[in-house]
Amino acid sequence: MNHPLAAEPRPSVLAAPAPAHVFDWLDETAAMRAEAGLTRTLRSRGADDAVLDLAGNDYLGLTRHPVVARAAADAALRWGGGSTGSRLVTGTTALHSELEEELAEFCGVEAALVFSSGYTANLAALTALTDPDTLIVSDAYNHASLIDGCRLSRADVHRAPHSDPAAVAEVLAGRAQRRALVVTDSVFSVDGDAAPLPALSQAVRAHGAALLVDDAHGLGVLGPGGTGALAAAGLAGQPDTVATATLSKSLGSQGGVVLGPRRVIRHLTETARTFIFDTGLAPAAAGAALAALRLLRAEPARAERAREVARTLARQLAAAGLHACEPQAAVVSVRAPGPEAAVAWAADCRRAGLAVGCFRPPSVPDGISRLRLTARGDLTDGQIAEAVRIVAELAPVGARG
Ligand SMILES: Cc1ncc(COP(=O)(O)O)c(C=O)c1O
Repeated sequence: MNHPLAAEPRPSVLAAPAPAHVFDWLDETAAMRAEAGLTRTLRSRGADDAVLDLAGNDYLGLTRHPVVARAAADAALRWGGGSTGSRLVTGTTALHSELEEELAEFCGVEAALVFSSGYTANLAALTALTDPDTLIVSDAYNHASLIDGCRLSRADVHRAPHSDPAAVAEVLAGRAQRRALVVTDSVFSVDGDAAPLPALSQAVRAHGAALLVDDAHGLGVLGPGGTGALAAAGLAGQPDTVATATLSKSLGSQGGVVLGPRRVIRHLTETARTFIFDTGLAPAAAGAALAALRLLRAEPARAERAREVARTLARQLAAAGLHACEPQAAVVSVRAPGPEAAVAWAADCRRAGLAVGCFRPPSVPDGISRLRLTARGDLTDGQIAEAVRIVAELAPVGARG
């Protein structure tokens, strides 16, 4: 979308707007978004809303697990409501150390460092592991936080075609930069497809590059017992491979993590700006994530159940004539005929008691609007059937075309 004022001739001396008009241009851009059907609004939510929630990312249904909620409360009571500052200044609690050690062990890597969000973990990895003599090769469908990390790094960035290891290898082969980092989501949040990690790793190895995998949608879902996409691809613990993840999806909490070789983690601790200049992960979030991780380790079947729910949802939606993706993790997407139809479809589902996500441009790289259903491992077969019934009955004209 062009800036509304971009086409206006600029007077050599701009007339200074009165204070009351300084932000007038924001209203003009809001009007343009409204015209394009792209208005975003906040909706209030009650703690006990009678809605079947397939809109969040609570893949294992752990956010409201009593053990997880209790651990958050206990951690806040013991350590306080916040971390009070950067961990380099105020110190690392035993809770943060335990969480990092257990996450690293679980994912099969040497070390881990937790951040206040998955977003800041991605910014950290991309900025600290690159320099102006680095080429970043970034999948065209990567998450916004990876795109922002690329922008913040001072590296050269090449946007590679989606899930195309041959194209990645070609770019790596022709590079002039000393270093290279290939970055990809493990599971793409829009269509639920998985990145070709073994082939990407081969391309990276052949050209002396490093691989960075955002496993936000894979941790807790993919790999044996939910150990993540790197474990699923046989890449956990490799010296040239780093993963990031959020603690806000399968682990039902909030925060992010970088997982990888010990020297990578040490480097991030000492140089990553979103670690150094950001308040450490809140104790309640660390406590909740640790409790969720321990639950998953004790009950590894939770991960397989989330994948099974996804396959069932997709199969039943397709049987109802809808364009459902073939899920490779726990994201199930259904194509909508257009952005307005997608918004109306999601709103109708909500009125019928089902919360689903709604993706439309500019959040969808291919311009195709979709509903997004989260396959929670704690859904019963009855809940799955009910969700499919609502989505199918309320499908707009063109959704089956
Ligand atoms: C693929 C991916 N990476 C990173 C993030 C950011 O994680 P967080 O919400 O913890 O900041 C998200 C979304 O939440 C995501 O879907």
